[in-house]
Amino acid sequence: MKFLRFSDLCASGQARGQRVFIRADLNVPQDDSGAITEDTRIRASLPCIQMALDAGAAVMVTSHLGRPTEGEFKPEDSLAPVAQRMAELLGRDVPLVSNWVDGVSVAPGQLVLLENCRLNKGEKKNNEELSKKMAALCDIFVHDAFGTAHRAEASTYGIAQYAKVACAGPLLAAEMDAISKALSNPKRPLVAIVAGSKVSTKLTILKSLAHNVDQLIVGGGIANTFMLAAGLKIGKSLAEPDLLAEAKAVIEAMKARGAEVPIPVDVVTAKEFKADAKAEIKKANAVVDDDLILDIGPETAKKLATQLKAAGTIVWNGPVGVFEFAAFENGTKEIAKAIAESSAFSIAGGGDTLAAIAKYGIEKDVGYISTGGGAFLEVLEGKTLPAFEILARRAKG
Ligand code: 3PG
Repeated sequence: MKFLRFSDLCASGQARGQRVFIRADLNVPQDDSGAITEDTRIRASLPCIQMALDAGAAVMVTSHLGRPTEGEFKPEDSLAPVAQRMAELLGRDVPLVSNWVDGVSVAPGQLVLLENCRLNKGEKKNNEELSKKMAALCDIFVHDAFGTAHRAEASTYGIAQYAKVACAGPLLAAEMDAISKALSNPKRPLVAIVAGSKVSTKLTILKSLAHNVDQLIVGGGIANTFMLAAGLKIGKSLAEPDLLAEAKAVIEAMKARGAEVPIPVDVVTAKEFKADAKAEIKKANAVVDDDLILDIGPETAKKLATQLKAAGTIVWNGPVGVFEFAAFENGTKEIAKAIAESSAFSIAGGGDTLAAIAKYGIEKDVGYISTGGGAFLEVLEGKTLPAFEILARRAKG
């Protein structure tokens, strides 16, 4: 998919003296007092902002934060903590501007942060009038919000329709490049790990990947449903028996291509879902009625680790067990280690996956860590995200 890149506009001097509007995803987690608990998305947005400043542009940045009610400002919806963190990271003042839709005063070399764009009436519904007003604020619109690339809102889509120039920022472009490298033209074998509590939330992903990947490793509640589909007992573990036919169809689709869904050969069980519950390692065919499967067993982990180490490309979404509890973290830890040690190009995304990556300290050993939650999942589903659709359309002129 072809789209204009902001880096090219900057390199050719086309951003000098221009008013540049950057849509970033600065939607970071905060604690009850409003303090930012994790700032990856802010840090990931800085290269685009710095690029615009270095190119001599007048820079406006905005983002949503949470899901506020449009037109009703509440202090907890403010980007003020983000402005403060950004100022610390950039080592310069980052003034926060409210009520900015009708005009923003910013000179070349200056940077302003525009208050939570979801406070503007019409944002969520991609209102045309609002989109046109935002587009009129700038000469160049830069979409750098991969985390929001699956939303067609006024500050992500409408503005891209009406701005004089609409292009992809370096983060959006890097995300797309990494995803294309992993899914469009992967070095094989391509191994995907799709784990999570429910098949239903990831069924489209499983179906889509079943046509492409060489091994589809399932984990968590999803694996339980697949174990059921393979004729194994899972006790009282979380599963969706009504989706057995769908799970079987995925297994068959993979088989028909000479690919496989590795079913666990052993598991770690407990009688209760508790951090201090007694963990028992069992063969997959020895699970009894009152067992809860909370992790893959060591033999399965070893087998999967071997496959991951031999992979050409790895896509990782979801921990394979309850890794938050020490007794049930081994599977996820072994998978994380194997990905870190593998020479494969790896891409990982999703909140729990990022937490696992952080827990096992393998950030530097993963090829690409996506900043997208829902957006990453929609890409895995094989969807064209609105951000890329509109930027590609604008690139055609
Ligand atoms: C996210 O946190 O996944 C993105 O910022 C998108 O947020 P949203 O689901 O509220 O659109």
